[in-house]
Amino acid sequence: MNNIFEINDENISKAADVIKNGGLVAFPTETVYGLGANVYDPKAVANIYAAKGRPSFNPLISHIAEIDFLKTYAVVDERVLALAKRFWPGPLTFVLKRIDENPALDLACAGLRTVTVRMPNHQVALELIKKSGVPIVAPSANKSQTISPTTARHVYESLGEKVDMILDGGQCKVGVESTIIDLTGKDVVLLRAGGIALEDLEAFLGQKILISHGNPDLPSSPGQLLKHYAPAHDFRINAVSREGDEFFIGFGDVKDCDLNLSVSGDLCEAASNLFAFMRIADEDGRKIAMSPIPNEGLGLAINDRIRRAAYKKLV
Ligand code: TXA
Ligand code: MG
Repeated sequence: MNNIFEINDENISKAADVIKNGGLVAFPTETVYGLGANVYDPKAVANIYAAKGRPSFNPLISHIAEIDFLKTYAVVDERVLALAKRFWPGPLTFVLKRIDENPALDLACAGLRTVTVRMPNHQVALELIKKSGVPIVAPSANKSQTISPTTARHVYESLGEKVDMILDGGQCKVGVESTIIDLTGKDVVLLRAGGIALEDLEAFLGQKILISHGNPDLPSSPGQLLKHYAPAHDFRINAVSREGDEFFIGFGDVKDCDLNLSVSGDLCEAASNLFAFMRIADEDGRKIAMSPIPNEGLGLAINDRIRRAAYKKLV
């Protein structure tokens, strides 16, 4: 367990350097431990999905340390600001319309036009974010489909040495994940019940909150809950070669492609390029085709994502 570090200034600075250099840091928040990376580093974000063994690209929560930062990131209206002032730092997460169009953010947002943000109520988390100088994207620091960790030891037991540093902040106070609300429309929609009670939110807003049918952690049918970005143009998957004037996205040893997700066949590199390449292809305007992706490791998540993108074209 020599990747578990006690909390002191030196170790927080060290962890911030790990984040800046594209590594993974597990850190305490008031809810559960998060598995953090620089939100603007798609390779680091791909490593989060790989370490967790997530079979699909769920959008991840960006953790920020200052409300002011929100304006550069998302559409912030009076309602968002009021909620942030009242409940942040704290276990409340907002899904907002995205302003920051930096393609480096695409993987963290799972290709959506929304960003998911919260300010954790934990000194260590806040210092780590400030010292890193970027939002830290972090799902719970556990293997996919397992229980969220509330101690550093839980993180170690689930992820072991896949994490560069685990900051040991003791037991998380709240112990359940944050409440997630969707603020992109006129209504406020609850996507996940969590650390802030629905009643408290309704009392503050003076309006009823709609309950989304389903749990974002347990989608009853893929794609039902998360409205995924799909290219506007025809999108053919498992394509062994280009047909006609298609925009061809290759993988591995593929000649004659417009872009290659990873010449060396590295699935992490492919995942980190996926969304950005799909954007470029879509902007190009031709029909799109993509090489087969091996269905292992991050390939599962890549295939899940591209199947959904291609499926839309069949209906
Ligand atoms: O308390 C927490 O929220 C912890 C700590 C580390 O901050 N984080 C956490 O993240 O629980 P995660 O990734 O394990 O769970 C976030 C959930 C995922 O199931 C994801 O699908 C959903 O939130 N989610 C995120 N953005 C969404 C969006 N735009 N629309 C629908 N669901 C979203
Ligand atoms: Mg989780």
